[in-house]
Amino acid sequence: MSETFDVAVIGAGPGGYVAAIRCAQLGLNTVCIDEWKNPKGKASLGGTCLNVGCIPSKALLESSENYFQIQHKVSAHGITAENVSVDVPVMIARKDKIVTMFTTGIASLFKKNKVKSMHGRGTLLKRDASANTWQIKVDDNGTAETIQAKHVIVATGSVPRPLPFAEVDNVMILDNAGALALTEVPKRLGVIGAGVIGLEMGSVWRRLGAEVTILEAMPGFLMAADEQIAKEAKSIFAKETGLQINTGVNIKSVKVTGDTVTVGYSDSNNQEQILEVDKLIVAIGRIPNTAGLGVQENGLQVDERGFVVVDQYCRTNLANVYAVGDVVRGPMLAHKASEEGVAVAEMIQHMEKKGQTDELETVDFNTVPWVIYTAPEIAWVGKNEQELRAAGIAYKAGQFPFIANGRARAMGETSGFIKVLADEKTDRVLGVHMIGPHVSELISEAVMAMKFSASSEDIACIVHAHPSLSEVFHEAALGVDKRALHI
Ligand code: FAD
Ligand code: NAI
Repeated sequence: MSETFDVAVIGAGPGGYVAAIRCAQLGLNTVCIDEWKNPKGKASLGGTCLNVGCIPSKALLESSENYFQIQHKVSAHGITAENVSVDVPVMIARKDKIVTMFTTGIASLFKKNKVKSMHGRGTLLKRDASANTWQIKVDDNGTAETIQAKHVIVATGSVPRPLPFAEVDNVMILDNAGALALTEVPKRLGVIGAGVIGLEMGSVWRRLGAEVTILEAMPGFLMAADEQIAKEAKSIFAKETGLQINTGVNIKSVKVTGDTVTVGYSDSNNQEQILEVDKLIVAIGRIPNTAGLGVQENGLQVDERGFVVVDQYCRTNLANVYAVGDVVRGPMLAHKASEEGVAVAEMIQHMEKKGQTDELETVDFNTVPWVIYTAPEIAWVGKNEQELRAAGIAYKAGQFPFIANGRARAMGETSGFIKVLADEKTDRVLGVHMIGPHVSELISEAVMAMKFSASSEDIACIVHAHPSLSEVFHEAALGVDKRALHI
């Protein structure tokens, strides 16, 4: 008789592993099935985020920013650094070590919380209605086992969206995994897609010395961000960072000849152009991953783009099957995936232990923060100006620049600003938009304010430490009522 669990989680990315830990904390007998293998062929938990996403990209962003600071910024502090060089393999090895620390850390967390970890591909076989369980095949390279579980959480994540005529080989044409594993700085780097990955990975290799050209299909730049932030970012990236960003392009061909990748495209004026580079990163979005899950066989509903269809509680159309994270609608962010994982775990526990589902929690996407880890960083939460205008919502705006902040001046990081948008009548904060130093950290205060339905006046009433970057947020909130003090 195969083993039976209360919950089987398929996928151990930030959606799946967090769901599994929370299920186990709540007393549910839980298994987490994951098929990820690292380049050494070993099972590696943590999904995209830990293996080839959030964590390794931030490790390289940190290393490359340090190099950039020493080369270009420390002289203003009177510090001279000569013969500065970068050892890319050492930088990559440091990144790999951080990844391993975290992926093995999840294995320890599973042990500590008594989550059973199984390596292999999980496939939904069928539901045994009389036993009220799902049968799931776990196939580890041809060695298959079948387990049973009352509830199934699908957390199978996403994979890079392919560009049909630019096949990724991770030697010349790279996806996110290849872009995080280069062993030397390419002289000329091309990037297709000026989205989050394009900007972050473009920044890493630009800071290390590559000439970076980013080709973006959309006529605008960073169209999900507030227009004013996007405009400021584009100008800073061009002037200070040296990222060459061409928008409104149409990629027509990608050809590898020897050591060169040639990209043929038409530019925003419809002129045919050629870009020759040493490496090309393709980062044109990600698509939901349901390969081998048993979608068709079980009638699991997916939408026209392949996302598993769920309601606001992450319930699919199949009994006792839920889905969270990148494989379902909503932002493709690790913290969104984890929050959904926790919400589903708690819903299952309510059903199992209390026989009720009346205390369901949903994840409020309006208070999910976005961060882009460029220099300067970009972060936002809630609605931007163009969204408020389109929705016909009357609002007030307060804005304050980092250049007028003592801490930012002391750091020598004065680019950017913070903008607070509040409802014209009620003063409730509707959105906060930031570009500047460490805004990845500053955004949390804005998230908390919005989560607690704060007004801009509430933020204005809070004492912020001096001198600190958080004073920029305070001044922007004061600015909503036209009473900023230091400008
Ligand atoms: P994933 O992390 O993709 O995990 C899914 C797991 O399921 C994988 O291990 C996969 O192998 C496994 N799996 C799939 N199918 C099966 C199956 N049938 N059986 C068994 N296992 C299966 N987000 C942020 O919030 N902040 C960032 O800074 C950030 N940086 C990023 C940088 C890069 C370069 C990339 C690519 C992404 C980044 N993201 C970031 C996005 C983030 O990685 C994803 O939103 C997040 O990983 C989604 O989590 P998930 O659990 O839904 O899926
Ligand atoms: P993205 O959706 O952010 O950007 C893709 C870009 O490629 C878009 O600007 C799009 O217009 C462009 N594009 C699409 N097709 C194109 C084509 N044929 N030619 C030229 N341009 C084209 O996707 P990206 O950068 O691949 O990242 C995927 C997701 O991963 C992000 O949306 C985000 O959710 C997540 N991520 C989050 C990070 C963070 O939170 N800091 C960091 C990196 C990724």
